[in-house]
Amino acid sequence: MSDLIAVAGKGGVGKTTFCALTVRYLIKKGLRPVLAIDADANLNFNEVLGVEIKQTVGGVRDDLLKNMGMLPAGMSKDAWIEMQLQESMVETKDYDLVAMGKPEGTGCYCYVNSVLQRYMEILQNNYPYIVMDNEAGMEHISRGTTNDVSYLLIVSDASPRGVRTAARIRDLVNELSVKVGGMGLVLNRLLNEEMTEAALAEAKKRELELIGVIPADDLLLKYDMKDRALLELPDDSIAVKAASKILDEVTGKLAKAG
Ligand SMILES: Nc1ncnc2c1ncn2[C@@H]1O[C@H](COP(=O)(O)OP(=O)(O)OP(=O)(O)O)[C@@H](O)[C@H]1O
Ligand SMILES: [Mg+2]
Repeated sequence: MSDLIAVAGKGGVGKTTFCALTVRYLIKKGLRPVLAIDADANLNFNEVLGVEIKQTVGGVRDDLLKNMGMLPAGMSKDAWIEMQLQESMVETKDYDLVAMGKPEGTGCYCYVNSVLQRYMEILQNNYPYIVMDNEAGMEHISRGTTNDVSYLLIVSDASPRGVRTAARIRDLVNELSVKVGGMGLVLNRLLNEEMTEAALAEAKKRELELIGVIPADDLLLKYDMKDRALLELPDDSIAVKAASKILDEVTGKLAKAG
């Protein structure tokens, strides 16, 4: 069974960045191939990884609904969907990436969704670890378009608002039918002790369990500004080191949970 590490949090707190650092970590540890899932309709997981997306799962679903009667002769809908999904997957030596795209609109998606879900389940079994970047609203998790989450990392900046949003995400997840094995708060982009103290106090008040902190990293920001893939960050980057410590703990917990 593969372990799915999902990342959530308020807009702009560093979710996609943390996802890239997670993919980097898993590759460095030899836990390959990693499956990266972009569950944010804005599609930017591919950018921090340094690859391009041609098609999304949502795009395949919409195409099928539009062209239902015009599939190639002799091809079943299931086979067509599978072929399209395979084509939409970005494959590299160390990781594969699939983007979920826009969540469905109105209309009958039940059949297509059940095919998609089955495909995702089969797909996910080919990887020891899956890393999923989510949007703030966590559409795909709350709609059940994805499988159970082994560990949810909720990222926040040091602002009380960020931490309160993190607590709301925790509460939302607890109300959903999707199973989540564990959850932890990551405080990101911290500038100084004072900031850290304030965020920690808010986290304590909201009974959020902290799994680690990541300082603001000028080098990471430089990479971002130059549009360089974050996978290329050196081992001595402050953010890489801090994320590795967090991920040692997460993978340790997952190994223990079996
Ligand atoms: N530890 C850090 N040090 C310095 N800069 C950081 C750090 N973490 C994230 N950033 C920067 O913050 C910005 C937002 O990060 P990112 O895109 O990962 O956030 P996000 O939560 O995925 O945003 P969105 O909600 O729009 O998807 C980026 O410019 C990124 O480079
Ligand atoms: Mg993002």
